Amino acid sequence: MIMRANWRAALIAILAVTGMVWLIGGRTDPSSIRLRSAPAGLTVNDGATLFAAAGCANCHTDRPHGGALLAGGRALVTSFGTFYTPNISSDRDFGIGRWTDIDFIRALRRGVGPTGKDYYPSFPYPAFTQMTDDDILAIKRYIFSLPPQRRADRAPVMHFPYRIRAGIKLWKIIYLREGPIEPDPDKTKEWNRGAYLVRAVAHCGECHTPRDLLGGVETNRRFAGANMAVDGVKAPDITPDPKAIGRWSVDDLASYLDDGLTPSGDIAGGAMAEVIRGTSALSNEDRLAIAVFIKAQAPIPPAPMQKMSQGG
Ligand code: HEC
Ligand code: HEC
Repeated sequence: MIMRANWRAALIAILAVTGMVWLIGGRTDPSSIRLRSAPAGLTVNDGATLFAAAGCANCHTDRPHGGALLAGGRALVTSFGTFYTPNISSDRDFGIGRWTDIDFIRALRRGVGPTGKDYYPSFPYPAFTQMTDDDILAIKRYIFSLPPQRRADRAPVMHFPYRIRAGIKLWKIIYLREGPIEPDPDKTKEWNRGAYLVRAVAHCGECHTPRDLLGGVETNRRFAGANMAVDGVKAPDITPDPKAIGRWSVDDLASYLDDGLTPSGDIAGGAMAEVIRGTSALSNEDRLAIAVFIKAQAPIPPAPMQKMSQGG
């Protein structure tokens, strides 16, 4: 609870600074999206596969209550408040059926809606921003090929002061690194492919990387395990540390991402089971690339987990 108090004080400070940023005119022009072609080897280009691997339906479908595909309404309980995911089906009135390609790219690349609304980073656009334009648009085409759903959105119920969306603007200045990803010429093609799938598409770090007091991921402890923002569940350390998955081979990890079985025969549960439904739609080659990239990370021993009251 002490942490939550700090967090609030920090946010109030942020809101003050945000006001100043506005006064000095620090807003970026939301209409300045330009389409870029993707670096070789980095697009997946298949909407259905991307949609699965990015887990769009996991959050935007209220599966616990038998909700229709992409009709939204799934409750994501966080320490900032409760989100009810929006309807992102192709319905023209209740979903995103009227959105242009640029509207859709702007939402995933910058976390901004067609009317200029800033999205909370509980929508993992800090990862999706790293996707190529081609892949973002392949996802849009796939969503638009699915049936429209007529279900009205429900506003999030946020605690003070998070319900003030203006705070998100400053959060973005601090944490949002706009993509798309640049391949690292010193690394292999496979590593770069894995980096793209892990960072941009499957957003492994959104759950497995711990967050700081402002809900930004701690880049120096990437994949070291975290108490997830949503539902307070723990996502384990997945670095190659011997106390984490150091004993797993590249093949062990790739096959876990296909069938959910760990080398010791346990089966993936909870949020990871949903993730695996997505990664099992990828090719074997792509799962191996993910495994190569993850196994190439610096080993970080798992921290003793404390109950944290913040998240993102
Ligand atoms: C971890 C959960 C999660 C995942 C995964 C996720 N979203 Fe979302 N998304 C959200 C939340 C929560 C919001 C609402 C954020 C807000 O209210 O500021 C949102 C908002 C959106 C919006 C804005 C809708 C509107 O009506 O303004 C779009 C578009 C969207 N998501 C598309 C996607 C796509 C496409 C994917 C997959 C590539 C995806 N989302 C994956 C949680 C998620
Ligand atoms: C939505 C949150 C979420 C995302 C995204 C996510 N994971 Fe997980 N992951 C979890 C949770 C929760 C567990 C614990 C599962 C369990 O208890 O069976 C887990 C477990 C694992 C494990 C097993 C570790 C062990 O020691 O048993 C591995 C490996 C793993 N994840 C890798 C990945 C990779 C690679 C990605 C990206 C492709 C990814 N995860 C994306 C939440 C997530």
